[in-house]
Amino acid sequence: MRAESLWKISRKASKTCRKFDKDCIKYEKTQMDSDVKVGMFLNSAQGILKMGLATVLITGARLWTKGEIDVFTYLVFIVCAATIYNPVFLVFNNLAELFFVNVRLRRFREMDQMPIQHGNTEFTPANYDIEFKDVDFNYNENKQVLKKVSFTAKQGEITALVGPSGSGKTTAAKLAARFWDIQGGTVTLGGQDISKIDPETLLKNFSIVFQDVVLFNTSIKDNIRIGKRGATDEEILKVAKLAGCDDFVQKMPQGYDTVIGENGDTLSGGERQRISIARALLKDAPIILLDEATASLDVENESKIQRGISQLVKGKTVIIIAHRMRTIANADKVVVLQDGHIAETGSPAELKAKDGLFCKMLELQMNKN
Ligand SMILES: Nc1ncnc2c1ncn2[C@@H]1O[C@H](COP(=O)(O)OP(=O)(O)OP(=O)(O)O)[C@@H](O)[C@H]1O
Ligand SMILES: [Mg+2]
Repeated sequence: MRAESLWKISRKASKTCRKFDKDCIKYEKTQMDSDVKVGMFLNSAQGILKMGLATVLITGARLWTKGEIDVFTYLVFIVCAATIYNPVFLVFNNLAELFFVNVRLRRFREMDQMPIQHGNTEFTPANYDIEFKDVDFNYNENKQVLKKVSFTAKQGEITALVGPSGSGKTTAAKLAARFWDIQGGTVTLGGQDISKIDPETLLKNFSIVFQDVVLFNTSIKDNIRIGKRGATDEEILKVAKLAGCDDFVQKMPQGYDTVIGENGDTLSGGERQRISIARALLKDAPIILLDEATASLDVENESKIQRGISQLVKGKTVIIIAHRMRTIANADKVVVLQDGHIAETGSPAELKAKDGLFCKMLELQMNKN
């Protein structure tokens, strides 16, 4: 029976891989098509223009030898044709650029058409319990991402969201901070409906480590300082140590003043994640969302940082998302999502005792290791 369920899960994984391969091939084909079209357009335009120059040269030479024009007129025509060539070619180049600008403009328009979220800027909740009640959500009409999702993440507890890739974990965590408004049900914080609270006011209560870390092309110190405006260097150093940044920062030429490139591209995935954790530690908000916060770290670094994170989470509402089962071993409650609905919920021990999806995921990971 167990072998059968494991086989089902691995079959689903290989189906996902096949879909990914197919999407990559489709993307490659679209990209090549558009590059070929733009290339053909530019090269033809360049060819036609160059032919124009050649025609001026040949026709002019013939007219001059026949004595129909003098050498001065011939030279003036050559100079004009050669000077006109560059600006006209630039215009064609810009036309090609316009194709791409159009795509970007469409994205801007989509953003512009998104409804603006409003709400109360006065918000003092009685506690920091987050409650999802029958939440329905979709990004667009084609696909329902969350279906009647209900769970409570209590203050002082760690609530883990687990489930297969694409099951809606990140979406649920982001909805808790009102990244989007839901289509059905309610999300409350301390008993108050978050759709009535101003998004910025609400976000002040959240420390978030995203799955996709965003860093800026400035110093490590300033990247961490984003967590709390006006934080002192001592405060930054303290959280950086807790988040395990100190080891690699000390080896850098300018230490915490080292500039890390666009989105931290001079750093490894694990190093970028540690900076992001330091930022969240510095903010020290009452609600913590950790989405695959330690996924790029090796076991040794993950254990070190878990200690830092456990300092951060004391007495707070914590929602943690992780694929590695050992990362969520200390959770008080586990919510298992599958295809946008809750498959099961309970403490890790309760779920281990059942023969459900959580158990299968645990087993699959143990087999892998
Ligand atoms: N911004 C978006 N616009 C449209 N669809 C989205 C968007 N973000 C996520 N989705 C879709 O919503 C579904 C749930 O995505 P989500 O990121 O919540 O999954 P997840 O459980 O966090 O997956 P993973 O474990 O891979 O991080 C997926 O089908 C995904 O394609
Ligand atoms: Mg996710």
